[in-house]
Amino acid sequence: MTRTYVVTGAASGIGAATAALLTGQGHRVIGVDLHDADVTVDLTTHEGRTALVTHVTELSGGRIDAIIANAGLATESTATVAVNYFGAIATLEGLRPLLAGSDAPRASATASMASLFPVDDALVDACLAHDEPAALHRAQQLLDEGQGGLIYGSTKRALARWIRRNAATPEWAGAGIPLNAVAPGVIRTAMTAQFTSTEEAEKAILQMVPMPLNGIADAPVVANLIAFLTSVENSHLCGQVVFVDGGSDVVIRGDSTW
Ligand SMILES: NC(=O)c1ccc[n+]([C@@H]2O[C@H](COP(=O)([O-])OP(=O)(O)OC[C@H]3O[C@@H](n4cnc5c(N)ncnc54)[C@H](O)[C@@H]3O)[C@@H](O)[C@H]2O)c1
Repeated sequence: MTRTYVVTGAASGIGAATAALLTGQGHRVIGVDLHDADVTVDLTTHEGRTALVTHVTELSGGRIDAIIANAGLATESTATVAVNYFGAIATLEGLRPLLAGSDAPRASATASMASLFPVDDALVDACLAHDEPAALHRAQQLLDEGQGGLIYGSTKRALARWIRRNAATPEWAGAGIPLNAVAPGVIRTAMTAQFTSTEEAEKAILQMVPMPLNGIADAPVVANLIAFLTSVENSHLCGQVVFVDGGSDVVIRGDSTW
């Protein structure tokens, strides 16, 4: 059965690998990105998020089968907050009505193992309060204080929590839509090129992100998991943040979660 998937961040890395996998399986993919995509929009902006819904509605005829909210940035910047959290939520909520016509609707977001790192509680709270001006203001304060390194993990912690808080609601589970997230470890993409370009750099990043199971991964590893989460076969995973991280979650959190 051919399904229609919307993949954000489809021009590169994990999104490109996911789009290629799904297309190879015979599905239709509507790719979304800043460039080289069916829908070119900037998900940091209100206009871009509105245009996303308009263009996907036009291209799909108003009916899609899955949303893959994957676009992201890992720079120390306010834009990272705008795309990783608010852009992802706008993608999931904005496109959710288009899932109504599917007999197997699915949604997935891309969080990160970095959600396990120390975060800034004020930034996480502002995200979850859906107060974008306050979140951007807090991120700017962190940058001014030399604490910009907390921004990325905070956006991913907030995104994972949003998935947990919303998956069982009438809008998602109640509408028959499994809503889940993947949390990758270090994956070889443009985003991590600086950490994987030399053996020394890889050793250094693996000190921070322990991956005892097979080390740094390639993007298709994550694409396979996203494809399962958004497949017809996934009827009952609800609000799970699935770590595909070579073991960093197990090393860091041990059995404090189960
Ligand atoms: N690579 C890793 O190790 C890793 C680990 C954990 C999580 N992630 C997450 O995986 C997702 C994909 O990252 P990747 O590694 O494939 O990186 P990537 O840089 O290869 O791809 C990210 C894509 O998102 C797009 N994008 C960025 N800002 C955008 C915006 N404002 N509007 C629209 N599109 C935008 C980029 O243009 C790019 O094509 C991200 O959410 C990232 O945070 C990556």
